[in-house]
Amino acid sequence: MAKKNLHVEIKVVKDLDEISRTAADVVIHQANERGSSSGPFTLALSGGSTPRLLHNRLSLEASKMSRRAWKNFHFFWGDERHVPAEHPQSNYRMACETLLNSAAVPAQNIHRVYAEEPDAVIAAEKYERELQSFFNLNTGQLPRLDCVLLGVGTDGHTASLFPATNALKEKRRLVAANRVEKFQTHRITMTVPVFNNAALIIFLVSGKQKAPVLREILEGDNRPDLLPAQLIRPTNGRLIWLVDQAAAGCLSDSLKV
Ligand code: 6PG
Repeated sequence: MAKKNLHVEIKVVKDLDEISRTAADVVIHQANERGSSSGPFTLALSGGSTPRLLHNRLSLEASKMSRRAWKNFHFFWGDERHVPAEHPQSNYRMACETLLNSAAVPAQNIHRVYAEEPDAVIAAEKYERELQSFFNLNTGQLPRLDCVLLGVGTDGHTASLFPATNALKEKRRLVAANRVEKFQTHRITMTVPVFNNAALIIFLVSGKQKAPVLREILEGDNRPDLLPAQLIRPTNGRLIWLVDQAAAGCLSDSLKV
């Protein structure tokens, strides 16, 4: 079931499995709509645990797609932890384990953040150059990702845009090295202008623990410094909140119809 709310689609489904199946269907449909004749299909993956099942689904879908169609998928990351690729906390490592290895994605289609770089600012600059090169951008231009997958933390963060952190205000750069004091570390994250230039953004939100923050984000006051997920509003694209019944538990019924 879908509900428009301020040009936002809120789809409430049964559980994480249905979130994953629905998201996979939306991504594949979006890729098919685009067709490979219009160039690569660019997908920015999210970190955390929620996307794991979706990755498995996409890998399954890949096995049913023509090689030509699947080879058109290019993978990016909305954010990355400041750790080496083999680190247990690496979003890239999680994606390899749940999707990229099993779906035989060619190396040249994988655009990871070189987060092993000791200086997070340099890692962010390198990723920004990767985006500028792949999307053939001039200075000041934004990439237009075909699809961005995002999650939400119980503190209202998304990607590595955490409450009261500097990256929330970044309007010029494509990628930021964001100091997150609560973790005593930097995170590398695409910036709000990049996310909001995407053609399609899908938030994946599962579980009862997310219900209070989801209500604050969707129905509470506009407080983006405290709830960075509120900053995500595609300027010329589609925004879908794909949530399960447990995460939707605090939403008013009008949003869930
Ligand atoms: C990350 C993610 C982060 C994640 C949320 C939700 O690097 O961790 O980008 O923004 O999406 O923290 O995480 P869960 O899916 O584990 O709840």
